[in-house]
Amino acid sequence: MTGARIAVFGAGYVGLTTAACFARLGHDVVCSDVDETKVTTLSRGEVSLHEPGLTTLVEQGLGQGRLRFVLGLPTELSEVDFVFLAVPTPTGPDGAADLSAVEAVLSQIHDVLSDECVVVIKSTVPVGTTRRVQRMIGCPVVSNPEFLREGHAVEDFTHPQRIVVGSEDKDAARRVLALYADDTASAVVSDSASAELVKYASNCFLAMKLSYVNALAELCEEVDANIEDVTEGMSLDERIGSSFLAPGPGWGGSCLPKDTKALLATATAARVDFPLLDATIGTNHRQPHRVMRKVRDAVGGSVRDVRIGLLGLTFKAGTDDLRDSPALAVAGLLAAEGAVLTGYDPCVPVGSEVGPLHVVGTARDAVQHADVVVVLTEWQEFAELDWTCLGDGAGRPVIVDTRDVLPVDKVREAGFRLIATGKRLD
Ligand code: UDX
Repeated sequence: MTGARIAVFGAGYVGLTTAACFARLGHDVVCSDVDETKVTTLSRGEVSLHEPGLTTLVEQGLGQGRLRFVLGLPTELSEVDFVFLAVPTPTGPDGAADLSAVEAVLSQIHDVLSDECVVVIKSTVPVGTTRRVQRMIGCPVVSNPEFLREGHAVEDFTHPQRIVVGSEDKDAARRVLALYADDTASAVVSDSASAELVKYASNCFLAMKLSYVNALAELCEEVDANIEDVTEGMSLDERIGSSFLAPGPGWGGSCLPKDTKALLATATAARVDFPLLDATIGTNHRQPHRVMRKVRDAVGGSVRDVRIGLLGLTFKAGTDDLRDSPALAVAGLLAAEGAVLTGYDPCVPVGSEVGPLHVVGTARDAVQHADVVVVLTEWQEFAELDWTCLGDGAGRPVIVDTRDVLPVDKVREAGFRLIATGKRLD
């Protein structure tokens, strides 16, 4: 299906990707946001997010007249066929998702929409929200969770592995599915609560897998095993697979921390005991402290006045997103104990204000004057650095690689002492 009239609320990384990709599929899209600066810059075709392919799609959509950005309510709202909600649902004070942005949009639009308009909830919302909204407004409501990885959002939208649409109105759900015009993705058409749960269940499963691997890495260090060999052996079992098995300083970003807390809050409210989820979150909270211990051990006890260079600040490689980044959690702990911090990240501009550290412009700058270097994000460029040219003789820093991204032999041959994750090197 092409040529549908669509309004998308929220021009964040989910809403903007959704709007630009639907425009490319031939729909007529208006994207609304409450941030005037964002609307102005997007209307000029300027995208501030680091998301490959997105700028081109926005430029094309604007050029072809299929994509517009507006502040507040679009004037054509009463004529649209679909409204997509892609506003944030951050963690509220009790751990549950805060739905105030979703509710604010709904309260403004529900009188304006035509009875045939389908409201689609793309924001990650707690189980039962779609049914609740359905009771509040006259038109059909569909849950259509997003599964976009940051840094791959356009690719994930264009070639999705799955499209999940859930509603008590199956006809409306199928109409939403048809918008994607995709015959290759597997589709799940379900009730709305199940669709909402698919999103949480998937992200919590990934978080659980990572916490499991991080705990295994800790165990490997204690029993003198090698996490790389262990995960390679595990991944050969196709029921386990090879993805999400790399240890690190903890998982972060805009989704996994918030979704694990929200599902736990849902389980608690439903009086369902879910210790696995509790342990998944608890294990993750431990990870920055583990990194901290390693750095302390590397310098013989105290990090006070020790110069520490952090390589990688974003929550993963391939994004400029610092939200809930484990690197910043580590930086906070180091600063609290009196370390002097510099940091480098290919996606964080030099001089940026990032918590307690001074952001420098090259990896060399972060390494050169440091007593300890901590690798926190798995950027490939760190592996490709010419380590022989960094530092000199006795002045070379100790390196703590929390992602096991550096080439062990090259770094050690260059004279550095390297402390890896999930394996002992000496
Ligand atoms: C995640 C989900 O993967 C995606 O399906 C969902 O729709 C949105 O949330 P994203 O936030 O982009 O996507 O991050 P992701 O690539 O999943 O990484 C999450 C965290 O796990 C990061 O902190 C990353 O560094 C960490 N991670 C991932 C590891 O430590 N090891 C791995 O092997 C993989």
